[in-house]
Amino acid sequence: MNIDKLSTFLGKEQISTEPSTLKLYGKDWTKHFTANPSAIVFPKNTAEVKKIVQWAIETKTPLVPSGGRTGLSAGAYATQKEVVVSLEKMNQILDFDDVERTVSCQAGVVTEALQNYALDRNLYYPVDFAARGSSQIGGNIATNAGGIKVIRYGLTRDWVKGLTVVTGKGEILELNKSLVKNASGYDLRHLFIGSEGTLGFITECQIQLTHQPKELKVFLFALPQLEAIMEVYKSFSKNFALSAFEMFTDVALKYVRKQGHVNSPLEIDAPYYVLVEIEEENDSSLDIAMELFELNLEKGLIVDGTLAQNSQQAKDIWRLREDITEATTEYSPYKNDVSVRVSKVHEFIVSMDKILKADYPEFDVVWFGHIGDGNLHINILKPQQLNSETFMKKCHDVDDKLFALIEKLGGSISAEHGVGLVKKPFLHHTRSPEEIAYMKAIKTAFDPHQILNPGKML
Ligand code: MLT
Ligand code: ZN
Repeated sequence: MNIDKLSTFLGKEQISTEPSTLKLYGKDWTKHFTANPSAIVFPKNTAEVKKIVQWAIETKTPLVPSGGRTGLSAGAYATQKEVVVSLEKMNQILDFDDVERTVSCQAGVVTEALQNYALDRNLYYPVDFAARGSSQIGGNIATNAGGIKVIRYGLTRDWVKGLTVVTGKGEILELNKSLVKNASGYDLRHLFIGSEGTLGFITECQIQLTHQPKELKVFLFALPQLEAIMEVYKSFSKNFALSAFEMFTDVALKYVRKQGHVNSPLEIDAPYYVLVEIEEENDSSLDIAMELFELNLEKGLIVDGTLAQNSQQAKDIWRLREDITEATTEYSPYKNDVSVRVSKVHEFIVSMDKILKADYPEFDVVWFGHIGDGNLHINILKPQQLNSETFMKKCHDVDDKLFALIEKLGGSISAEHGVGLVKKPFLHHTRSPEEIAYMKAIKTAFDPHQILNPGKML
């Protein structure tokens, strides 16, 4: 059997065909797919990844790269007997450059471990999201992960100074080598960021760290109507470099409350909530924020609100937003993760709300998102009695309307979760035929044998 040949260069403990391991590593957090890998391998370094790719070319075996398996577009699913290459054992931080404040690490380093490594040096790795405790830096790079601080610090792409990759030809490339300035032609590093494992394996990376923010202040506001969301955003973003502006609905809050871990500190219930985080840059920052809060209250744009008085209260407010994914996962949500330009968010949410109310009257729709990035997460929860197939069909029927709206507004069918298997049929709403043809040509250049994450994205 082909798999046996792997043991000529991998240890016994690095190869598994054990059913529970296949089930666990053959998937990510996405629902509605079935994992069906033929084996899972656990390389320990770039040289071993190279050998695995060479073996895959020789034996024509498709490979699926796998990180923390927290993806939500089925980008790390093995559904067709592929061999899954888990980067989990490549979890070493290799080096720290205290002149540049860059850290070199293997791809399997967990996001939170990198954040803590930075904090230990009085520094900060600002890309952050609820899956920080399991997601891995390689997976974050492969999907250009965003999260809750993009409004202030940008995407994963903005923090990657260099990459080591193994292409689908089995070649090792060192991309950008941590240079700040490098005008020597195409920056292939950026092609690999967001490539979802279709061009090669990201095995090591150099990540920029930054200074820690000053004290963060967290507000929670209750809003009486849809129109208030962007008005409140405008008033705060005009005065502050916001470090977060997150929104969720009363339906989202209902599911978080149901879990019983945390409750809303507000006295008045409202259809919409926004979490606003600012950095206390100087003595007057908080006074200005409180004035804005009162002004918006007077205008009726906010009906209730609170400012966290200590770090525990701030954490609890953040949990109301961050726990939504976990609180809804048992309802097998069908997820849409869309974006439009920030200036078009209002038009988008008003039209989207009409579509959702008209077409999903019988389903609970949980929507929330990173309003300041123009990114909304729309989750349709599956009623227990409905089978998965009928549910998915109903969701896809509404997708047509939703994606037509996105196309009209010049938005994207995937803001930060990636394309994977879930959004592949809809890519044409965001990318032109010419663009998709160039993407396919790039894929062929790096993966001529078509062994890397087949069937994903393109
Ligand atoms: C989030 O913003 O919480 C994540 O993108 C996860 C999700 O959408 O479920
Ligand atoms: Zn998100």
